Amino acid sequence: MNNLFDIRYSPRALSVKKIDDNIIEDIFKVAGSAPSSYNSQPWRFLILNNSDIFYKMVYDSLSDFNKGWARNASNLIVSITRKKYEHNGADYLHSAYDLGQSVAYLTIRALEHNLYIRQMGGFDVQKLTESLNLNSNFEIITILALGYLGDVKDLEEQYQKIEKLPRSRKPLNEILIKDLNNLK
Ligand SMILES: Cc1cc2nc3c(=O)[nH]c(=O)nc-3n(C[C@H](O)[C@H](O)[C@H](O)COP(=O)(O)O)c2cc1C
Repeated sequence: MNNLFDIRYSPRALSVKKIDDNIIEDIFKVAGSAPSSYNSQPWRFLILNNSDIFYKMVYDSLSDFNKGWARNASNLIVSITRKKYEHNGADYLHSAYDLGQSVAYLTIRALEHNLYIRQMGGFDVQKLTESLNLNSNFEIITILALGYLGDVKDLEEQYQKIEKLPRSRKPLNEILIKDLNNLK
């Protein structure tokens, strides 16, 4: 079966080609339709291209390794989530979990438009939180690089090598278990 889940991967070879506003709207509507605890929808997405004021702050917060490829993406997106529930102010323990589901929806819908996402945890979250002067009710979780596929040959050599490596996954019998003694 050839479906979007089989096609999906996280490329570093992305293209700067601009994405139409109506496509951006479509994929984020789908991201916003994900399930969440108490339907709280804690996710927020700061979407930037390299002509936006905050772009440089976001790009500068990336690790050197990520800077080397992520500059080719059409957009950098800061994924942000609420720290407390809006309805009662209690700690929102599943907030990042809910944001993650929203990003999964986003990623799969994006593929329907031939758009790819590579998520990043490799950035200075404290520096970025301060430079963006982020409202203290929220926290930054990841930065996403979004774009059409680029040409692997345009990447620096160190990235070209790893872009072509086979991807591995744990076998099903390690993640789907009937006995907790099998946890490893
Ligand atoms: C939370 C999170 C953080 C990640 N951080 C980085 C990163 O900083 N740099 C990077 O190149 N890839 C990063 N990745 C991408 C993963 O390495 C990638 O998803 C994983 O190797 C599986 O490959 P695939 O998405 O192509 O299946 C991150 C992915 C996630 C979900």
